[in-house]
Amino acid sequence: MDITASTVFIPGATSGIGLGLALRLQAAGSTVVVGGRRTERLAAIAAEHPGIGTVEIDTADPASIERARDEVVSRHPGLDAVVLMAGIMEAEEFKDPASLEIAERTVVTNLLGPIRLVHAFLPQLRAQGSATIMTVSSGLASVPLAATPTYNATKAGIHSLSETLRVQLETTGVRVVELAPPATRTDLMGLKDNPTALPLEDFLDEVMTILGAQPDVAEVLVERVKWQRFAEREGRYDEVFEALSSRYRG
Ligand SMILES: NC(=O)c1ccc[n+]([C@@H]2O[C@H](COP(=O)([O-])OP(=O)(O)OC[C@H]3O[C@@H](n4cnc5c(N)ncnc54)[C@H](OP(=O)(O)O)[C@@H]3O)[C@@H](O)[C@H]2O)c1
Repeated sequence: MDITASTVFIPGATSGIGLGLALRLQAAGSTVVVGGRRTERLAAIAAEHPGIGTVEIDTADPASIERARDEVVSRHPGLDAVVLMAGIMEAEEFKDPASLEIAERTVVTNLLGPIRLVHAFLPQLRAQGSATIMTVSSGLASVPLAATPTYNATKAGIHSLSETLRVQLETTGVRVVELAPPATRTDLMGLKDNPTALPLEDFLDEVMTILGAQPDVAEVLVERVKWQRFAEREGRYDEVFEALSSRYRG
């Protein structure tokens, strides 16, 4: 992905990593459209950041995905990158039956949403000859956190999907790049106030450096996430899994 000259749609960019990445990509020279459900946030972003486009989208709703796709593509016929950023993370407790609702909306938002988005945007991206799909997994795809079983499972699913989608699209000119953030200070699950999480701007600095130096990189891995991403490969899985599980046990 050429960070200096792409036309990018980021559904899930009304806050946090998505908004931060949108602003960095725009500053680097790309044309960016941000999407999300909170229309007041979209209006504020448009007012505060001239040149950034905004589109309302609920990635849990197939009709909303198609409407947003049509709107973005009609405004930007050269759209050549989509970042599948929208996601939710909520604690679940299997001993509480009410958690089933959390699990269901997590699967719809974090796994089915990105799958539907790929289907919706692939014809547009293929028509460009050279294009990018950026998926967003997590360090928790590699070693799961006991407090969020379904969230981890959806992110492991996104990692798996990214690998096979990359192979299926090999001959199409559409590259698949997986962004796997570590715990980063955003509104997600109270992480903004978590001193052990990576400051958002530090995370974005590293991401932009990696994308700038390696436009064809398959996985964007900042230093902090390697603790989880390479745990199995480096024989540290049990230790990292235990460290994450002890946070749940308290
Ligand atoms: N922060 C971390 O530690 C971390 C670590 C690993 C992975 N990630 C992943 O990074 C992504 C961004 O998270 P974040 O940390 O930046 O949290 P965030 O600030 O809460 O951002 C989440 C974004 O997703 C959007 N979203 C959620 N559900 C949506 C839906 N149904 N339709 C459209 N947009 C939706 C939200 O917009 P609206 O509410 O306006 O719809 C918001 O813009 C997520 O996929 C998350 O899993 C985050």
